[in-house]
Amino acid sequence: MAWTSQVLATTRWNQAHLLGIRDLSRDDLLSVLSVARELKNVPPSDAPLRGRRLLAFFVESSTRTRTSFGIAARRLGMEVIDVSPGSSSLSKGESLKDTTRTIDAMGVDQVVIRHPASGAPRFVSNALRASVINAGDGANEHPTQALLDLFTMEERLGRVTGLRIALVGDILHSRVARSNLWAHRLLGNRVTVVGPATLVPRDVQAMGADVSHRLDPVLETHDVIMMLRLQLERQHAGLFPSTAEYAELFGLTRERLARLREDTIVMHPGPMNRGWEISAEAADSGRSVILDQVANGVFVRMAVLLLLDSARGKNLTTKAPKHEERVS
Ligand code: NCD
Repeated sequence: MAWTSQVLATTRWNQAHLLGIRDLSRDDLLSVLSVARELKNVPPSDAPLRGRRLLAFFVESSTRTRTSFGIAARRLGMEVIDVSPGSSSLSKGESLKDTTRTIDAMGVDQVVIRHPASGAPRFVSNALRASVINAGDGANEHPTQALLDLFTMEERLGRVTGLRIALVGDILHSRVARSNLWAHRLLGNRVTVVGPATLVPRDVQAMGADVSHRLDPVLETHDVIMMLRLQLERQHAGLFPSTAEYAELFGLTRERLARLREDTIVMHPGPMNRGWEISAEAADSGRSVILDQVANGVFVRMAVLLLLDSARGKNLTTKAPKHEERVS
């Protein structure tokens, strides 16, 4: 049996699209991790997705996610077609629905989309025959980021359950935080959300997380400290006094780094604002797994591409929570 069929045969993935971690079952999530693990250990010698087309549709800037998907798809033999807003007819006023229908008519197998509007990938998935992967929609979700975060935790800590995770910073605007919250809820991990009251949305407690408005008390008790970028481009009003004050209260400074337990790891999805949410010492320390996250992103995205391809033709439908059906 070919490498991929052998690996995929043991998985329990059951989704036509990857729109959010919220839609996944625990089996779906663990399937991605196990396929990514196999891919990292023994790279497939053939090109299992040769002849398949992936359309990369990024309506918002991205460096690592877009590059990572491109590398992942090419390693599997896929043809990658890149559409950026400047070069697509979106800039001529074409609606998202018309653009996606046009894409569909050209015959692509998978579409990876990043969009500033929450719900855009789900909206697009309803109009397409292709499988849709959400590469970040507004402040809603960024599922492959959470999956690569989990993969990196498993690699460094040896497990993805029984963990205590601190998500620190601009939770309000963070799709990475939201996808991580769903993932850890599925796995039964304890999450503490840390940030100023203005940057912590009210619904996180309903998602099962603890809230702390100070970073210092969580430093010695958590297995993972995940720092999030201060998303100044999404903030409309002054939600905190100054970046200097923010750094003093919530930044992972050299002093705070020194207080972490020996086995605690430091994560950041990137891009980092060094000196604001994270100091250079923390970013470059031996506890930092930030570059592992980037490297692992390729294997996790390869796994997602393979699993979605294997699901095609199975006639699957995703659970679509009603309130997320519209594009906000
Ligand atoms: C994140 C994003 O765009 O959501 N970056 C990423 O994909 N690695 C996080 C961020 O922009 O802060």
